[in-house]
Amino acid sequence: MSFLLASMATGGNTGVAGAFSTATYLLAAALFVLSLKWLSAPDTARRGNIAGQIGMAAAVVGALLHHNIVSYEWILIGFAIGGLIGAPMAIFMPMTAVPQRTALSHAFGALAAALVGTAHYYLFDLASHPPHPLVMLFLTLEVLLGALTFTGSLMAFGKLQDLLPTRPLTYRNQNAINFAILGAAVLCATLLIIRPQWAWLFPILLLLALAFGVLLILPIGGADMPTVISLLNSYAGLSASMMGFVLDNKLLIIAGALDGASGFILSIIMCKAMNRSFTNVLFGAFGQVQASAAEAGEKKTVRSTTPEEAAQILEAARSVIIIPGYGMAVAQAQHKVRELFDHLTRRGVEVKFAIHPVAGRMPGHMNVLLAEAEIPYDRLVEMDEINGDFPQCDVALVIGANDVVNPAARHDKSSPIYGMPILNADQARTVIAIKRSMNPGFAGIENELYTLDHTLMLFGDAKGVVGAVAKELAENGR
Ligand code: TAP
Repeated sequence: MSFLLASMATGGNTGVAGAFSTATYLLAAALFVLSLKWLSAPDTARRGNIAGQIGMAAAVVGALLHHNIVSYEWILIGFAIGGLIGAPMAIFMPMTAVPQRTALSHAFGALAAALVGTAHYYLFDLASHPPHPLVMLFLTLEVLLGALTFTGSLMAFGKLQDLLPTRPLTYRNQNAINFAILGAAVLCATLLIIRPQWAWLFPILLLLALAFGVLLILPIGGADMPTVISLLNSYAGLSASMMGFVLDNKLLIIAGALDGASGFILSIIMCKAMNRSFTNVLFGAFGQVQASAAEAGEKKTVRSTTPEEAAQILEAARSVIIIPGYGMAVAQAQHKVRELFDHLTRRGVEVKFAIHPVAGRMPGHMNVLLAEAEIPYDRLVEMDEINGDFPQCDVALVIGANDVVNPAARHDKSSPIYGMPILNADQARTVIAIKRSMNPGFAGIENELYTLDHTLMLFGDAKGVVGAVAKELAENGR
């Protein structure tokens, strides 16, 4: 979209094609708003996704009809290159890699905005017709946000893809240096607004913004990456919105503002879920892997069980809460989980799913997987709502979840996840935890849930183990 808009000059869109283009923009804007509304609930999410896709297609058609397009050649080349990169990414990238793919999308979107802004600046006739200060305000904001989001998102991609260390990379006076760089970039932008002719400042602004993006994200630990990704999403949206003001394109203003606002709201929701403030996320170097009490102390004993015994315990239960996590996603165990759910509900066991807001590797990860397996939406219960049910629950069945059920978050002040709200699985009468080993989860810390007296470990790949338990229940039921 940005690439497309970069291929045209600004100005009004007139004639039949212009009217059609305006109508498609209006349709696209309405569909984007509806899409966001529908995406906020699991049962309407598919409709929301389709509305967003149709909206984007309408926006592209509208942009292609713009009367100021001089030639379609470069647009076609851009489409071909973008399609060649984007299509394999969408088709072959596994679901578990969606966060890093999202980070890359933000990086490319923000780069496009920064490049469009840069091209626009150098197209001005600075000597005889310097741009209006308001245009320069939007343009410098576009370039500043676009450039810092580009490098920041690349850093986030590197951390999520394990190309860079996920632990916070910190050094002395880090925040002071970051603020100084941001301050210098804002100063350059302000001078450019007042004196657009001082073109030598423009590359400095660009370089400072690019450096700030790197330095802003490097000190942030892996555990805060979900929040950071949605914050970067918000910046990319704001940058696109600024680009809309510069290009006089109302759809970009609307779409960018929607993107910016929804990304910001999502960041706030995730901060609440992790019990963190924005300043903590951005300046607190959270997620540092520290030696936990469990690591330092003696090795505790672990009780393990078999699929046969687990099936018997589940059969005898009246209420079961299933806690899915990243391991269920990796194993693609959701369909086996559905089988298990069917066997248990057929026997009259009340089964609910406890959904932690940051379980897995992207917002709504568990909802998407369980919806794919057609688990009824009313069985998926959010953390705040279900936490009170654990003390009355017979079995908490943890399937590939770790950090989101780690009781250390409640009491161990030295733990990197201290303060993060968790699912109170430890309060259930019996806990059965399915995972392959005693390895830690994303935060890199041991989980005392696994060594509690009423916890049974069921070791193995989630798909195989859940399948074996479901098979056992099927055979017992005959
Ligand atoms: P994690 O803490 O990452 O734990 C997942 C567990 O699944 C691991 O301990 C692993 O143990 C097990 N596992 C992996 N593959 C498995 C398989 N094939 N079969 C069975 N088990 C398997 O997951 P969580 O509890 O869902 O917590 C999510 C974490 O990711 C949080 O720290 C969160 O902050 C972070 N995060 C979340 C997001 C979003 S937005 N949701 C994005 C980025 C990061 P074994 O190796 O022993 O099997």
